Amino acid sequence: MNSTQPGTDSELPHVVMPECPPRNLLHGQKALVTGANSGIGLSVALHLAREGADVVVNYVYDEPKAQEVVAQIKQHGGHAIAIKADVSNEDEVKAMFAQMIDTFGTIDILVNNAGLQSDAAFEDMTLQQWNKVIGVNLTGQFLCAREAIREFRRRGVVKDISCAAGKIISISSVHEVIPWAGHVNYAASKGGVMLMNKSLAQEVAPFRIRVNSVCPGAIRTPINRSAWETPEAYNDLMRLIPYNRIGEPIDISRTVVWLASDDADYINGISLFVDGGMTLYPGFTEGG
Ligand code: BGC
Repeated sequence: MNSTQPGTDSELPHVVMPECPPRNLLHGQKALVTGANSGIGLSVALHLAREGADVVVNYVYDEPKAQEVVAQIKQHGGHAIAIKADVSNEDEVKAMFAQMIDTFGTIDILVNNAGLQSDAAFEDMTLQQWNKVIGVNLTGQFLCAREAIREFRRRGVVKDISCAAGKIISISSVHEVIPWAGHVNYAASKGGVMLMNKSLAQEVAPFRIRVNSVCPGAIRTPINRSAWETPEAYNDLMRLIPYNRIGEPIDISRTVVWLASDDADYINGISLFVDGGMTLYPGFTEGG
């Protein structure tokens, strides 16, 4: 594993609540965010709560950080609980959903965020590295989505809460379409997420369940610290980003809130790239 170990972001600037006024877009909804004690997941958990959702803060390592997120949500008048579960473990996922439904009554929004990298040149990549990344990034999203779909179908649409019976938002990556040498396990997992979600969206749309992916580019989080922590690395990174700035977690959490809300009710099965133009092939600006 590279510098992407969960829970290594304690020195990062504290995620602050965004300053634009909340619109209460998710009032009364129950949300589960996997990997919510760090990076993008942390920002998503805070932002969903700010829009009125009750939030389960899932984590696997670093409980204090998860409790801090819960405390921050409560401080702002929201409801939240932390639940430990490894998303790649079927029993732990089932137990997490059971606890959530026991506490909050149901689930309206699943944000499938937990993910990791374990980078290696292909010929050096161990089966363990391959399985770990596929296990968390792809199988983990499958296991959580399956439990969520079961509950969405059992409950159906509750008109006062949302037009939809449930919403799944996957945090995928630009690497669901951009090949990534040295990260083949990661790119394979995200490519898998893309077609899992589109196929699932097709399957469950008739039940008024929406499944969409958000595909971040380079976002300032612990997973890619080496790509932005020195001025040299940051300048190098800018060659890949036409918009000429790194993404911040809030760029992603704002998008997730919108996709989860009824404002996005007719959107199903998309991959929404939030990447400052990374997928525009900036290498072709002058070449080709
Ligand atoms: C990866 C980051 C990387 C970004 C753009 C993300 O999915 O997790 O490490 O910086 O893609 O390449």
